[in-house]
Amino acid sequence: MHSKTKVNSSPEQYNEKDDEQVLRLENIYWDTPSGGNVLNGLDLEIPDGKLVVITGPNGGGKTTLAKIIAGIYTQKSGRIMLDGEDITELDITQRAEKGISFAFQQPVRFKGITVRKLIELASGNTMSEHELCEILSKVGLCAREYINREVDSTLSGGEIKRIEIASVLARHTNVTVFDEPEAGIDLWSFSNLINVFQEMRKNLKGTLIIISHQERILEIADEIAVVADGRIKAMGKADEMMKILMNSNGITGVCSKQEGLLK
Ligand SMILES: Nc1ncnc2c1ncn2[C@@H]1O[C@H](COP(=O)(O)OP(=O)(O)OP(=O)(O)O)[C@@H](O)[C@H]1O
Ligand SMILES: [Mg+2]
Repeated sequence: MHSKTKVNSSPEQYNEKDDEQVLRLENIYWDTPSGGNVLNGLDLEIPDGKLVVITGPNGGGKTTLAKIIAGIYTQKSGRIMLDGEDITELDITQRAEKGISFAFQQPVRFKGITVRKLIELASGNTMSEHELCEILSKVGLCAREYINREVDSTLSGGEIKRIEIASVLARHTNVTVFDEPEAGIDLWSFSNLINVFQEMRKNLKGTLIIISHQERILEIADEIAVVADGRIKAMGKADEMMKILMNSNGITGVCSKQEGLLK
């Protein structure tokens, strides 16, 4: 266990899992191409079978952290371990092969690829209309209207976001990172999405990380981590973290008042 980041948790619970079934980031640094420091010695450990929600102020480094996990950005220094294996040097494709999957805050559009093809590529199989319908209905879309549409600029922001989430749901992954899945999604689909995440959490084999500012998503977490200034400012069990977040001046309050206590 990384005692620096695991707070409010019994040490025994994590010690026994030390070198297995864990995603661990150690002392990660990342700079922008022009040299600005974004991640500043970030340590994070996420045990298997847990839903961890990462929150924190805009620009704090959450998306950068997700891109480092997925191998989209390469850290300047630090180490990344998955289930006891050092994956620091693996590229984006190799990380995907290890079962790391990432749903973007702002999904990429693919001209010339249909929704059906995108989801089939993600799942690794051809799929019946019924199977596609099951996955797309989880994100509030009717399959028949969408499966033959191209994943291009004719889709609305909310539609593309939902299709991206559906394609991640279709994948068989060890580590799944959703970056602000609520962004641009209407309220009805958002409630549906919460149910999907709760369902995923119940049957979780691996690690589910959701980056979010939404209270309703924070509430379904096992643990909550606060990222600010490129570091984990606080992390702990969700109910304890919620109390702190609600009773302080939000996340900024955690950063200034609780940092020393929680780390
Ligand atoms: N490729 C890049 N080039 C330049 N700056 C970058 C790059 N990627 C990230 N940054 C900067 O790093 C900082 C952290 O960005 P990041 O997207 O990780 O924040 P975030 O915590 O996800 O914020 P939000 O809550 O707004 O999504 C920001 O100041 C951002 O402008
Ligand atoms: Mg972000």
